[in-house]
Amino acid sequence: MNDKKVIFSGVKPSGDLTLGNYLGAIKNWAELQDEYECYYCIVDLHAVTVHQDPKELRKRSLEILAQYIAAGINPDDNTMFMQSHVSAHAELAWVLNCISYMGQLKRMTQFKDKARNNEENLSAGFFTYPALMAADILLYQTDLVPVGDDQKQHLELARDLAERFNSKYSDTFVVPDVYTSKIGSRIMGLQNPNSKMSKSDDNKNDYVLIIESDNETEKKIKKSITDSLNQVKFSDEQPGIKNLITILSKVTGDSTQDIENKYENAGYGKFKSDVAEAVNEELKPIRQRFEELMKNKDYLEQVYLEGAERAETVARKTLRKVYKKVGFIPRKF
Ligand code: AMP
Ligand code: TRP
Repeated sequence: MNDKKVIFSGVKPSGDLTLGNYLGAIKNWAELQDEYECYYCIVDLHAVTVHQDPKELRKRSLEILAQYIAAGINPDDNTMFMQSHVSAHAELAWVLNCISYMGQLKRMTQFKDKARNNEENLSAGFFTYPALMAADILLYQTDLVPVGDDQKQHLELARDLAERFNSKYSDTFVVPDVYTSKIGSRIMGLQNPNSKMSKSDDNKNDYVLIIESDNETEKKIKKSITDSLNQVKFSDEQPGIKNLITILSKVTGDSTQDIENKYENAGYGKFKSDVAEAVNEELKPIRQRFEELMKNKDYLEQVYLEGAERAETVARKTLRKVYKKVGFIPRKF
């Protein structure tokens, strides 16, 4: 055991990972790994809140693990695992469901957005999904949860549930903090820079995938929607350009001001092609490593099995405490 603070985060294997997932979450995870004890999960239970093709889900779950490792997360020092392998997640989620208020769940933006069109056909799992997310986090006595901007509200709920349980029973859970990076916590779509880049968008040109060819990435960035002002400025009036500056800044580490200065007299053509080149440079080693890892399924299996074993020990300990406090008769075997 060590006294490092704990991180938990995860990605749903419901689609291929985008540049938004990478810059908003996974890049930060890799940067935080030395300072924290980290649990990086593939949250497959979350994915099935909407229907998934079983074969695709299996394939994608493994690919996402390979992308975590390819992005630089070291499997020897971090715990990476499949959520469905550690049954304590579903078990704690039930208890937390029972202290979650319908009113609060109904106010979740992600739910409201989906419910607007077809509430009657949404799964009950989709509705209560934030309680499962809270269970993920609270099982590991997590201090910090690095996520993109869109998950802040769910994190608030996790904090609320931790505090509610602690005050109803007695101190049990660490109340987690959210971590979002100053730049890149909301990468916008390339075709629609007013909504976030998402793997579920119908238009493939709206997003860059971590795993695709350099050529595809370059084409998509060059085709991205900008404006006719012809100035590289980090301004809300120019959402397309602002988004490209954000991407370039997060990838190179240059400040948005430095980027504005550098491209003061440049046209959008040159700017876009530099952004594409920088993104491809960043993703190149990840893409190469990913290909190698996918050839070694035994290794990937070893990583997720060992991960589940480590996670299970910690998660069980918390769940045992919770069950006892709630009043369930302890199992003696
Ligand atoms: P998801 O793909 O919804 O499972 O999201 C996984 C992680 O990526 C979460 O931490 C999200 O907040 C983050 N994320 C997803 N899309 C974006 C985006 N467009 N910009 C920044 N972060 C994102
Ligand atoms: N709900 C998150 C998303 O859609 C994924 C997620 C599930 C998660 N459990 C988590 C993120 C726990 C951080 C911590 O992006």
